[in-house]
Amino acid sequence: MSGPLVLGIESSCDETGVGIVRGRELLANEVASSANEHVRFGGVVPEVASRAHLQALIPTLRRALATADIDLGEIDAVAVTAGPGLMGALVVGLSAAKALAAALNKPLYGLNHLVGHIAVDLLEHGPLPEPCAALLVSGGHTSLLRIESITDSITELGSTIDDAAGEAYDKVARVLGLGYPGGPVIDQIAAAGDPKAIAFPRGLTAQKDLAKHRFDYSFSGLKTAVGRWVETHSPPTQGPSGPVWTTERWPVSLADVAASFQEAVADVLTAKAVAACRQLGLDTVVLSGGVAANSRIRALLAERCAAERITLRCPRPGLCTDNGAMIAVLGAEVVAAGREPSQLDISACSGLPVSQIQL
Ligand code: KG4
Ligand code: ZN
Repeated sequence: MSGPLVLGIESSCDETGVGIVRGRELLANEVASSANEHVRFGGVVPEVASRAHLQALIPTLRRALATADIDLGEIDAVAVTAGPGLMGALVVGLSAAKALAAALNKPLYGLNHLVGHIAVDLLEHGPLPEPCAALLVSGGHTSLLRIESITDSITELGSTIDDAAGEAYDKVARVLGLGYPGGPVIDQIAAAGDPKAIAFPRGLTAQKDLAKHRFDYSFSGLKTAVGRWVETHSPPTQGPSGPVWTTERWPVSLADVAASFQEAVADVLTAKAVAACRQLGLDTVVLSGGVAANSRIRALLAERCAAERITLRCPRPGLCTDNGAMIAVLGAEVVAAGREPSQLDISACSGLPVSQIQL
């Protein structure tokens, strides 16, 4: 397959990503993560992330060029995350991209990180059947979207009114003493637990809430409920595979708490995504963002989509978390659609709305 040769740079949070694509063909996807440097703080420290991006960017770029076996001069365009994200972190990637574009005399495309999460699916599954729905679940965002055109028109149907799903994973992991980032470890531990052990709340699903928040989410009450449950049932005893809490009915393991929390997240995320498809007549939904790597969310959405004859598209877990390929492939789509390049003096936008695909 052919198409423009695009370099993509991602630096919105704690991953420095450099990807190279030719159209929808992935040539390289190198990621350097500073996650380990944030563990002892229980969350991303912006200054630490910015410095790590500075240190990692050139080596990651070199690795990507070597993997793709191309020279910088061959590239047709430079795409970069312009927002949303941490300001200091965004500025590092954007400055590097501007410098490369200027030095190589190639067009610059400042793109939306969230739209990149959806676009990455094109690498594996080809063009989107537009219009379609997208369930975007990441560390900072949780939204249900209608994609009219991935390069032109995206409408937000609903979003979280408080915490993002990934944020809830990270905060609950902290309460359970599981470290940062919380998603992967809860996903793993929950596999051995009983999802029905504790009936945690499903935010904004009551009839009275649905009228105003049909496609919105809320995870802050769930996060608080897990914290309160642990508080009221502690101290746990030490079982063979971690803490066990004694309840009136039966002992509850760490795996049971993790599985029950995860089930509450997966249940609301997937129920509202399927309801949106049904009510708006959309027959395909794309699941994307870091939390889309979650095994239970993927499985439950697959099950519910199959029951409603909705096609589920989902990038492989390794492409769900932040990376440069997602920005490169969105860049290639934007170039192919004939969009004008961004100005070299654009500023990073930490709160860029998902509807603004390019700066
Ligand atoms: O999209 P992403 O890499 O960064 C942002 O743009 O925010 O998402 C990171 C989030 C973190 O909150 C992390 O805990 C979560 O994705 N995550 C997961 C899994 N892998 C990463 N959450 C649940 N299950 C996973 N397997
Ligand atoms: Zn992301």
